Amino acid sequence: MAGRINDEDLNSLKQRLDIVEVVQPYTALKRSGSNFMGRCPFHDEKSPSFSVRQDKGFYHCFGCGVGGDAITFVQEADGLSFTEAVEKLARQFGITLRYEELRPGQAKALGRRTRILELTAAADTFYRQQLRSTTGDSARTYLTERGVEEEAWDIFGIGWAPDAWSALSDHLIAEGASPADVIQAGLATKGRRGPVDRFRARVLFPIRDQRGDTVAFGGRILPGGPVVTKMDGAAPKYINSPGTDIYDKSTTLYGLDLARREIVKRREVLVVEGYMDVIALNLAGMPNAVAPCGTALTEQHFTLLQRLDARVTLSLDADDAGFDAAERARERAEKVGVRDLGVLVLPDGQDPADLVSAGGVEAVRAALADRKTAVEFQIEHLLRGADLSTPEAKTQAYRSTFDLLGRITDPTLRYHYVFNVVGPRVGLPAQRIEDELNRAHPSGARDRSSERHNPPQAPTASPTRDTQMLLERQVLQVALQRPDLLPDDWGMVEEDVFVADVSRTLFRAITTHDGDLDLVLDAMPDDDLRSRVRGLAAAELTMSTHPSQVARLVDALRAKDARRRWQAARQELQDNAGLLDATRQADLLRDVAELERVWRAYERRDVHDRDVVM
Ligand code: UTP
Ligand code: MN
Repeated sequence: MAGRINDEDLNSLKQRLDIVEVVQPYTALKRSGSNFMGRCPFHDEKSPSFSVRQDKGFYHCFGCGVGGDAITFVQEADGLSFTEAVEKLARQFGITLRYEELRPGQAKALGRRTRILELTAAADTFYRQQLRSTTGDSARTYLTERGVEEEAWDIFGIGWAPDAWSALSDHLIAEGASPADVIQAGLATKGRRGPVDRFRARVLFPIRDQRGDTVAFGGRILPGGPVVTKMDGAAPKYINSPGTDIYDKSTTLYGLDLARREIVKRREVLVVEGYMDVIALNLAGMPNAVAPCGTALTEQHFTLLQRLDARVTLSLDADDAGFDAAERARERAEKVGVRDLGVLVLPDGQDPADLVSAGGVEAVRAALADRKTAVEFQIEHLLRGADLSTPEAKTQAYRSTFDLLGRITDPTLRYHYVFNVVGPRVGLPAQRIEDELNRAHPSGARDRSSERHNPPQAPTASPTRDTQMLLERQVLQVALQRPDLLPDDWGMVEEDVFVADVSRTLFRAITTHDGDLDLVLDAMPDDDLRSRVRGLAAAELTMSTHPSQVARLVDALRAKDARRRWQAARQELQDNAGLLDATRQADLLRDVAELERVWRAYERRDVHDRDVVM
């Protein structure tokens, strides 16, 4: 357990926090009225239902119901404890935290993640200094020769791990780190006489999380340079940090911290294979590039990209490996709802960095202009070099695409690929090909798509009840968000005009606490209700905010209440005809007359359901 964070510092952090800045790196937020909306980082969704209230400092997802403030957001999104989340935010917003119960071993008491983050940051600094010192001569030459000049070293934090067994470990331990932590951080491995540096004689590319904190490194060998290897093995071109408490390669994309803004702006992300590709593209003026860190693209990677609402373009070689990569990527991308997956086809054996150094950014632009959809890219691969000299060969050629096309369930897409790509390519009537394809692989997509458009309906409440609920919701929402719009006689509104228990509870809390959101939230009996109230306070007002319109909503609630009571009184009279005692009967008759007058009066003022149903 960490030392308790000083309350004053916690408060100044809360004051300084900007929840939009905190959430922004996880999902693209767009302003929408007084809210910001985006895709929920906590569940997969295609349309934005995640709302952030900057002024109130909280978020709420209308899709999955999560909600809270900036600190809970970081806890949830990064899997941190409260203390760790506060520490992370304090770093981001430049607040120095003091700890109560400061003990000599306090550094130890900090969360392990925080310790590892700090060690990794210290390593980052160390490696950068090494690159600039005499030990880094050969690395500097190498980088410069590859067109990575000094300005770029800073942007990407490039460093150099000296050609020594334990230069970094010795440095960190001298600064007070424990050998166990250095190993835990993935910076060293356990040797017989203490930690042995993981990276030796390598150019280091820090891998940063979305916030820009270094969480891992990729280390490249120098061509022909000296390398201290293990007794037995040849040195691989790259060594990457292992997974640690702060680093998971399946959810990390190299360069995303720098590229995010451009990706969102250009609505396009270029996914390349290597660190150097990201760097070269950046330097050439294409900063919307990212790369996985020595793995294939995972579903989580696509989820990250999908939230940025950008089309995804993979740079792939036009070979079997490229075909397989496209296939894997397509499956994963589809699963998380990435709709537009495309391929930038790389010329023989070149990677984007080669493209840039040979033809500058123009070469990349040209390749991008020739972007293919992933399926198109795959079809072209299947038909490349196909023998089309005889009818038999042509038939065989188009049939080789059936496996691929058969997996496309959308009939329109199938049609497109058969008519615009396969048919013209093999020179046979596309209709015949499509008929055969559909016989061999029934698309079955018709049913599925109609299901999508008309999802099976859950039995719903009656329309009248829906209208009532909508009204209650709207009125309470105004009371939470814009009390200034409430009619003068708001104070006279009775709890009974609300039918739903939750509405009554909320109405009571709002009137008791004069709309103070924090107090209202405190007054809610449970977290579920709290979360719903937060949602209501965050949701965009969908009705007219003209005060007279708001007054009409409140009147409508009263009208409906009058009408309900009118009906109940009439029912009682009817049900008990001749059985009621005289006073009761007189009371009921008077009520019926009075209530009828009330609701008819509202009706004359044209307050009617159709005014509030949207
Ligand atoms: P490349 O060999 O294309 O690397 O491998 P690169 O970054 O373009 O480097 P240059 O251009 O040769 O300097 C692509 C990616 O595959 C991973 C790294 O993430 C690398 O960036 N990789 C490659 C490894 O993890 N280990 C290896 O031994 C090789
Ligand atoms: Mn390369």
